[in-house]
Parts: sequence; structure tokens; C-alpha cells
Amino acid sequence: MPSPTRPPVVAALTLGCKLNQAETQQAARELQRHGCVTVDRPSRADAYLINTCTITHVADRKARRLIRLAQKLSPEAPVIVTGCYAERDGAALARDLNVRVVGNADKSTAARSVLDALREVSLPAAATESPSSSGRTRAFLKIQEGCDDVCAFCIVPYVRGRERALPIPEIVSQARERVTEGVRELVLTGTQPGAYGRDRDDGASAARLIEALLAETDAPRIRYSSIQPQDITPELLACWEDARMCRHFHLALQSGSDPVLRRMRRRYSAAQFEQAVAQIRTAVPGASITTDIIAGFPGETEADHDATIALMERVRFADVHVFPYSSRPNTSASLLPDDVPPPLKRERAAQLRALGHEHTQQWRSAQIGHTAPVLFETDDRGLSDTYLPVRAAESAARVNRIIPVHIGALDDDSLELIGETA
Ligand code: F3S
Repeated sequence: MPSPTRPPVVAALTLGCKLNQAETQQAARELQRHGCVTVDRPSRADAYLINTCTITHVADRKARRLIRLAQKLSPEAPVIVTGCYAERDGAALARDLNVRVVGNADKSTAARSVLDALREVSLPAAATESPSSSGRTRAFLKIQEGCDDVCAFCIVPYVRGRERALPIPEIVSQARERVTEGVRELVLTGTQPGAYGRDRDDGASAARLIEALLAETDAPRIRYSSIQPQDITPELLACWEDARMCRHFHLALQSGSDPVLRRMRRRYSAAQFEQAVAQIRTAVPGASITTDIIAGFPGETEADHDATIALMERVRFADVHVFPYSSRPNTSASLLPDDVPPPLKRERAAQLRALGHEHTQQWRSAQIGHTAPVLFETDDRGLSDTYLPVRAAESAARVNRIIPVHIGALDDDSLELIGETA
């Protein structure tokens, strides 16, 4: 870089899943080691690193919009685009939007590409941004990448490849480093984190990994939430006997109808899904269970949709993310006729969202009168171990502290819980 009078500011922006967040945090740390100030919001900057997602058409659109926003905010700044959209259609992105592209296979070199690009620009002497605080309270740790399940609708295996789990000692050493830096919560992430270790022949498994992290680090909180119903075993759930494990499980349902689940090539039936929920609720009292559902998968009938609603009524998720089905190139579902008309897809999605919202409200109202351990990311806001947004009634110096909060009310608009710290 041309001996700047101030540190270069890099906006490292993330779309998509927690795995992407882990990889952006890693790149941001590398940039900081090389003297850059990093921010995690779209603002003026000397360079941009944009980590994209391609899970749906909407994700693609969001990525293009974010790239254009960056170019508008700082027209001279180089924009480096990485992530799943860059992997899937990097040539088009480079051509249409005049950006530099780094595919997923080379993602670990993305920070270096930013540094190279910064060498070619002269930094204006403008005021500097204040560094972002993300990654200081919660660290996203990548434990594996890739997915061997190849569900019919999912593009992820095509942009992330086969499963590759990191060895336990490597994850433990990264975890220790982050805990020493003051991070209070480790979030274990991956493309298919529930399948951790199944590609290794050294006995590694999710349970072994969590046991090692609990025994060999002082992490105050560990979050391991994205799991498939078939990964729920008594051995795994035994890890939650340690109070440092966050009581939140994200089990993607996708559909409550067995014929649809079979066509999606999911590896469980609706009944097996409900059994997994029951196992969690017995082993981890008070756990919150959240889910993803696809509305309008090819061939979905009114009866299939009703089966999803009925399952939602029985399980009552703490939160539900609903996605109208979006056909993705190269997936096997893209060969099926996309036969649920868009207005019906939207109507079904809206119905599922409304029901999900009602259950979320009920679940959160039921927390009133209880005390929750909250990790504060600002002086008055944080997340409980059950992944609920909590606001302290009074602002005070609380950043990066885990404090018990007595929940007194629910804000019906924001769905935030409001309470007093002990
Ligand atoms: Fe999206 Fe890639 Fe994650 S497609 S959901 S960013 S693995």
C-alpha cells in the first residue's frame, strides 16, 4: 500500500448464512493484522469485500444491490466479491458489475486480493470510520464446509463441494485464541454442521468436538444450533448437561408432508422430525427450537401445505423462516415442473409466516417472569442463550458481558423482550 497517512478502511460485508459470517470474520481479522480498519456495514470505504449467497433468486438480487450500493458510496474503491454467488456465476458478476471475483475454492485468499487492490489505489485523506465491533462478543468458528446430502432443491453442494471437516485440535486452538481475545460466545458454523466429522476417519464427531471445546477452552458460551433431525442423538444431547451450551436448536423442517420430504430427498419423515423435537425438549428443558420452511415446492398440494400447518401447530416453533420455493440452476428439483403458481406460493408463504409469527409471539410472551442469561452486544441490547433478542430497560456499561435479565415485558412491534438486569 502507498504509505498512507491513515489506515485503509475496508467494508467487509456479509450476505447469507453463519458460515459466510465466519469466513468474513476470518478475512476481516487478516485485514486488521495488515493494518486495515474494517467495518461491517455499507458505508464509505477504501475497498469492499462482499461475501455473497446464492441460495435463492432473492439472495442473488441482494448481492447485486449491495455491490451497486458500494460502488455508489465510494466510486473509486475496488470491490472484491466472493462467496456462493461469485462461485456460481462469477464471470457474469465481473462482466456486468466490473468487480473482482474470488470463488469459494480460493476464498481464503480474498483478504489478500483486497490488500493487492488497495496497493493500486491512493487513499483520500478523508476522515476514518470507527471500526465495527462485530466479532468481539461472538466469534463464528468454521468447523466444516461442504455437504454430501444433496437435497433436491439446494444449490449449496454445487457451490461448496463435498464435506470437509476441520480437525478437532485446529478448531480448539482457534477457539482458545478467540476466547483469549475476549470473545464470550463461540458459534460453531458450517454448511452442514450437524454432520461434523462424518467425512473423517479419526473418530471426530460433533459430540467429541463439543466435549473438547468444553474441556479445553474457557468459552463462557458455545452455540451449536444448526442441526438436522437425524443428527440428534442422546450422546450429542448429553453435551447440553453443561450450562455453557446455548439452549437453541435450528432444525430445518422444509415441509411437514412426507411425500414432499421424499421428493426433496430429505432424510427424515415428519414423524421422525417430531421425535427429534421431543428428544430435545426432554433433554434440554426451555430450549428454543427454530426452523426453515419452503412454501410451494414442485407438486405441493393443498393437503401437503395443510400437513405443514398441522405440524407447525403441534411443534410451535420459537421462530420460523419461510421461503417461497425458488428453482436453482443445476439442482435436481430444477428438472421438476415448477407447478405451484407464484401467487399461490406467495399466499401459502404468507399463511405460514403469519402462523409462525403468532407462535413466536406466544413463545416470547411465555418468557415473561423468567430470568435469561443475556450476552450484551451494546449497552442495552443482547441475545439470550435461547437466541431471543433482549433489551435492558436502562442503558448501562454492559457490552460483552453475560448478565441475567429478569424479563418483564414483550415489545409487540419489535418482538424484543424487555427486562431488568439483576
Ligand atoms: Fe448461501 Fe452459500 Fe451459505 S448459498 S446459505 S452463503 S453456503
